[in-house]
Amino acid sequence: MTDLAFLLNGTPVRLTGVDPTRTLLQYLREDRHLTGTKEGCNEGDCGACTVIVSDETGSRALNSCILFLPQLHGKSVRSIEGISGPEGQMHPVQQAMVDCHGSQCGFCTPGFIASMAVGHLQGRHDHDVVLAGNLCRCTGYAPIIRAAEAAALQPVPDWMRDDPDFICSKISSGDISAGDGGQTAPGDAGPQSIASPAIASPAIAPNAYRPETADQLAAWYAANPDATLVAGATDVGLWVTKQLRPLPKLAFLNGIRDLQRIETTGDVIRIGAGVTLTDLRAAMTGPHPALAEMLTRYASEQVRNAATIGGNIANGSPIGDGPPALIALGARLHLRRGDARREIALEDFFIEYRKQDRLPGEFVEAVTIPASAPGLRVWKLSKRFDQDISAVLGAFNIEVAGDRIAGGRITRARIAFGGMAGIPKRASAMEAALEGQPFTEASFRAAKAAAAQDFQPMSDMRASAAYRLEAAGNLALRYFHEASGDVVSVLGMRA
Ligand SMILES: Cc1cc2nc3c(=O)[nH]c(=O)nc-3n(C[C@H](O)[C@H](O)[C@H](O)COP(=O)(O)OP(=O)(O)OC[C@H]3O[C@@H](n4cnc5c(N)ncnc54)[C@H](O)[C@@H]3O)c2cc1C
Ligand code: FES
Ligand code: FES
Repeated sequence: MTDLAFLLNGTPVRLTGVDPTRTLLQYLREDRHLTGTKEGCNEGDCGACTVIVSDETGSRALNSCILFLPQLHGKSVRSIEGISGPEGQMHPVQQAMVDCHGSQCGFCTPGFIASMAVGHLQGRHDHDVVLAGNLCRCTGYAPIIRAAEAAALQPVPDWMRDDPDFICSKISSGDISAGDGGQTAPGDAGPQSIASPAIASPAIAPNAYRPETADQLAAWYAANPDATLVAGATDVGLWVTKQLRPLPKLAFLNGIRDLQRIETTGDVIRIGAGVTLTDLRAAMTGPHPALAEMLTRYASEQVRNAATIGGNIANGSPIGDGPPALIALGARLHLRRGDARREIALEDFFIEYRKQDRLPGEFVEAVTIPASAPGLRVWKLSKRFDQDISAVLGAFNIEVAGDRIAGGRITRARIAFGGMAGIPKRASAMEAALEGQPFTEASFRAAKAAAAQDFQPMSDMRASAAYRLEAAGNLALRYFHEASGDVVSVLGMRA
């Protein structure tokens, strides 16, 4: 049970004794009867449940179906009921959806409006990216995109800018209480609930902890190694909504600001475990554009806004998109248990399927990568362009002495794949086939042939073993052709 405060559609809310795995979607629809927000998939895929969550770092669209209530502490939530103005004025994206006939059955529309309102607030014009996490079964996307384009010409309404100021002045100072006009949930405040109204401090309860610093987390987790860490909950959320798993003890990491930093010192970039995929993507645009580009294909805007790089590494998935790219970069993983810290090569963290080199009570604190790797290329292959899990993800970091096209010599090759084995894995035979060789198509064909020594992939619903092996080898050829100036992306093809 836990104690928390947030703004809901501009009104302070304080909850005592809530189940920490209660989702925002459940709270909105069942407890508050705010049924505009819809449940489609209940697993982060369709966007019908999208809401706007703001704090002092800005506003973002999130899927409320996999967002636990404690993750909202100190933040502002706007559901579809709070997107129009205080006098009932339509938000520009709402008006544009009417004008452009962007809604038919309307089931998806509240989620689209929430995503569009955030895009509008941020002055975005990449509407396809903003809306990639919203699924519409009947209208078709053209009218919706036209609505987003039309709304982009209109100014941001004043009421959409109010929340962050309010949060900073009130919630952060611990100034919200039920007597503040807020709503106190009846909850089942019993012996486990917190009596103190000190909202600004990390609320500690027997079964849910919300640390504000990595030091607090380290001490608590070392003493409670059986707890489940929840960062963005884009994996853990599904354990609850789909697998119905009880999670008796939890620590919520999204309030730990010192895990959310990206710092460059000399030629090393240190990425805190709590950095979201959205922030990572933005930060990589300069130093590692190939990584940033691949991250556009990672899930959807809503998922990237929640998911952290620490969660993406720690879950140990063989099809996670982050680890192969980071391994190709030569990433080092920084682990911490209490005050004890250790550093390992990221590839050594993955021992076998779902087994990682992590001690009880130890957590991922950060990952470090080189600040420069001009030879890095990362490609994700999946059935859908947007919002899909990789069948194969190939990451190549190749250094060449001399001019590539004129046949310079390959001095170093680091290659890693996802989707090819039970863990994200380096392709050592492919690397050996390239190192010391001239930068020619023949060398990359030899690397393609070597892929079979590195991998015996499996067949599943995403791809057959034969496809995976062929595609992985072809990515090596793609590397050569792209470096040679050929068009290699279907997006670059012109009739
Ligand atoms: C709709 C949807 C689409 C997705 N698409 C993709 C995709 O395209 N590519 C992809 O790679 N993944 C995808 N995922 C999976 C998921 O987004 C990632 O694995 C994500 O990075 C997990 O991060 P999180 O912060 O949400 O982790 P959480 O769900 O909070 O945690 C995941 C695991 O990591 C542990 N953990 C979290 N932080 C730490 C830490 N600092 N130290 C130790 N353990 C920790 C948790 O205890 C848990 O075991 C998708 C998920 C959804 C729901
Ligand atoms: S209900 Fe589908 S993403 Fe939440
Ligand atoms: S309007 Fe029916 S699903 Fe989009």
